[in-house]
Parts: sequence; C-alpha cells; structure tokens
Amino acid sequence: MPWLQLPDHPAIEMQPDETLLQALHRAGIIWREACLNGVCGVCACQLKSGSVHYATRKPHGLTSQEQQQGQILPCIALPASEQLLLGKPSYPVQHRDLNGL
Ligand code: FES
Repeated sequence: MPWLQLPDHPAIEMQPDETLLQALHRAGIIWREACLNGVCGVCACQLKSGSVHYATRKPHGLTSQEQQQGQILPCIALPASEQLLLGKPSYPVQHRDLNGL
C-alpha cells in the first residue's frame, strides 16, 4: 500500500484508489479545498517526492509550468508510487478531533 507523508505529521497509509485529499481527510487533516474536481487549484501543493496520476481527469487548476515545478492537485491525485512526500502548505495545517467522532 502507498504511504503519504506530510512534514511534521505521521505517515498515512493510502488505498490505491483513494485521492491524496481523501487520505488527508481520513487522517483528520484539514486541507484547503473548494471544487474537489481539479479545476480551481485551491488544494494545490508541492509533491517533494513520489509520483501521482490523475486517471481520466485533468489537473485544469494548474498551469503546465506549475506541473513542471512539481505542483499537484490532491483532490484528484491518485498515488503512482509507494512513497509520497508533500511539501508543507503555506498555511497552518489544522486537524479535526477524530476522537470525538
Ligand atoms: S479543490 Fe479545486 S482543484 Fe482541488
């Protein structure tokens, strides 16, 4: 199973068919998002290592230059390698209290 790592957070084991954003949500991480469809670019972040794919979807929320610089859209990105390392977002990452669910 692929693993997703965010700086200063425990690694998250992913399902091969779940998006990075779904894995972040499951771990209780609150990530900036809006369209959830790869269009707005709000969820964009840097992929420091590993690779992703978008299946039949297209990352319209990123320019080709942003993609070449390693930016990805977690809302539609699926794991394409066993280890994925995301860059730290430019905003403070918050967590939901999963114990209260
Ligand atoms: S939430 Fe809009 S592109 Fe990801």
